[in-house]
Amino acid sequence: MILFVMGVCGSGKSTIGQSLAKELKYPFFDGDDFHPQANIDKMCKGQPLNDDDRQGWLQALNQKAKEVKEGVFACSALKESYRQILFEGIPWGQLVYLNGSFELIDSRMKARKDHFMPPGLLTSQFQTLEEPEYGLNISIDQEPEKIVEEIMENLSPGNQEFGLIGLGVMGKSLARNLAGKGFKLALYNRFVKNSEEQVAEKFIEEFDELNDCKGFEDLGAFVNSLSTPRKIFLMVNAGKVTDLVIEELKPLLDKGDIIIDGGNSHFADTQRRMEDLKANGLHFIGTGVSGGEEGALKGPSIMPGGDKEAYQKIAPYLEAIAARDAQGNGCCTYIGKGGSGHFVKMVHNGIEYAEMQLLAEVYALLRYVNGLSPEQISAELQSWETNGLSSYLLEITHKLLLKKEGEAYLVDLILDKAGNKGTGSWTTISMAELGIPATMISSALFARYISSFKQKRERYQKQFDLSKTKQNQVSTNDLRNAYQLARLVNHQQGFELINEASKQYQWELNLPELARIWTNGCIIRSELMEELIGRLKSGTDFLLTLEKEELAIKLEALKAITIAGIQTGVSLPTHLSAMDYLNALLFDYPTANIIQAQRDFFGAHTYKRVDDPEGPSHHTVWE
Ligand code: 6PG
Repeated sequence: MILFVMGVCGSGKSTIGQSLAKELKYPFFDGDDFHPQANIDKMCKGQPLNDDDRQGWLQALNQKAKEVKEGVFACSALKESYRQILFEGIPWGQLVYLNGSFELIDSRMKARKDHFMPPGLLTSQFQTLEEPEYGLNISIDQEPEKIVEEIMENLSPGNQEFGLIGLGVMGKSLARNLAGKGFKLALYNRFVKNSEEQVAEKFIEEFDELNDCKGFEDLGAFVNSLSTPRKIFLMVNAGKVTDLVIEELKPLLDKGDIIIDGGNSHFADTQRRMEDLKANGLHFIGTGVSGGEEGALKGPSIMPGGDKEAYQKIAPYLEAIAARDAQGNGCCTYIGKGGSGHFVKMVHNGIEYAEMQLLAEVYALLRYVNGLSPEQISAELQSWETNGLSSYLLEITHKLLLKKEGEAYLVDLILDKAGNKGTGSWTTISMAELGIPATMISSALFARYISSFKQKRERYQKQFDLSKTKQNQVSTNDLRNAYQLARLVNHQQGFELINEASKQYQWELNLPELARIWTNGCIIRSELMEELIGRLKSGTDFLLTLEKEELAIKLEALKAITIAGIQTGVSLPTHLSAMDYLNALLFDYPTANIIQAQRDFFGAHTYKRVDDPEGPSHHTVWE
């Protein structure tokens, strides 16, 4: 353990620090000994130190703390930014703040003759002081022995540096990933008689990398095992369960502790929880985690949002376990304030829905129009990987097509009713609220909904029994070009939605950085995402970066593909959405004038005129 004892000059840091070091059998380090001569001279002349003077001094202390690993440090660390330097790379360090009034310390200072700091400087120390919101806050208005006793009693008993609640599939994988990076974890799973008993302990026994972990099914004991400020990662079901766990945790935690929600929570819930916990002095980080079970184990893409200072305390953990981008940097970045982390994860899933649906439609045309077998389709899709189209979803799709059960392809044994857990529907609600037509995402969502009406579809098919229209085979070249263009539309729409949310909610999101952390670990990682890092530097209109000729070729391909779908009755919602969105963007065939006229006709809603678009609104008496 590293213990930083802080307070203004004269609060007794050195005396208390030395006694604590004795009790703990740790070496003691006095911050004053780390000042360069220039600082000491300045203080002797009665001049207060500025931030620049303190920077090197704090870094030297931080360096020493990293070196010794165990020790008690006495250091004024009056501002939060100073404490951040002290704690950099040692988030398990603990803070003790010796709290005393100006009058009390002033009277003590006046009684001291041996100190190099003139008592008059105490005023500037109090002006600089930003009281910490975490760690132990100890009143110095008592005997030194009592102060030490109080600190020893209240020092976090635990040495476990990071806690994780919820050992489902994702929780277990994240725990193994964290432990594999050398972090000492406390793991908690609820107790449910006969179904969830000693889950954490049994799990720890199963894997060598979990040797230093401690398992709990008593929440209080779990919390007590953690060093402060506590960092607790929730990997529980989104929604009510998350609220219940937070409510249980709240009374057990201390000011400054940090709860991190890694589930697919709605961003508005995250915002609400954040405000509620802030009122209790607790920090809350809502983070998207993408990559499924394997990603969680080997390196997910992580999208944390919330209070930036709190993020900095958990950054070493999240950044260590994240996937690496092409340059070797972690696919984890501070997203922004409030619920922004969960918002971008939600849109990530929306983009994922449309990417998945596009591939399902490609499959449908190759299977039902071109008459290829799953194996042949798999080979075709695999061949696309060399054309700048490679992506995780393309890869798993060509792999899953090969899976057999006996003689049958497994895909033929899977009922065509798509499930969903809600993020696609939240994305669709958000786009409606923010006024952004991310039409491919909503089409993909509604395709899943239509698929779920299986019996209804069967009833219609039986009643009308329409003969299937023969259609010439679709060109695989067209199919690939159409798919490529539709993907670009999907990504453009998704990033436009994020961009608009960033503006309306004042999140100041960094879109190229977001694309960077989506280049690996997450479900929508792809070669295209790599390209988008650069393209996003000049905005979200990716389509404008296409050469006219390239666009024309791809547009013709998309047209041919969607016509084939319409003629044969193969439903192609995302390709059609992309086609229609492009038609609306690229061609000038006005229809909104009719809408405006209708609105004005029945409701006197008024309209603008083409000859004066910014001018006054007009109303016509139509009959
Ligand atoms: C990810 C996935 C993951 C999960 C979603 C999908 O990024 O790792 O998106 O979050 O697969 O829950 O949800 P649906 O069940 O709605 O498809």
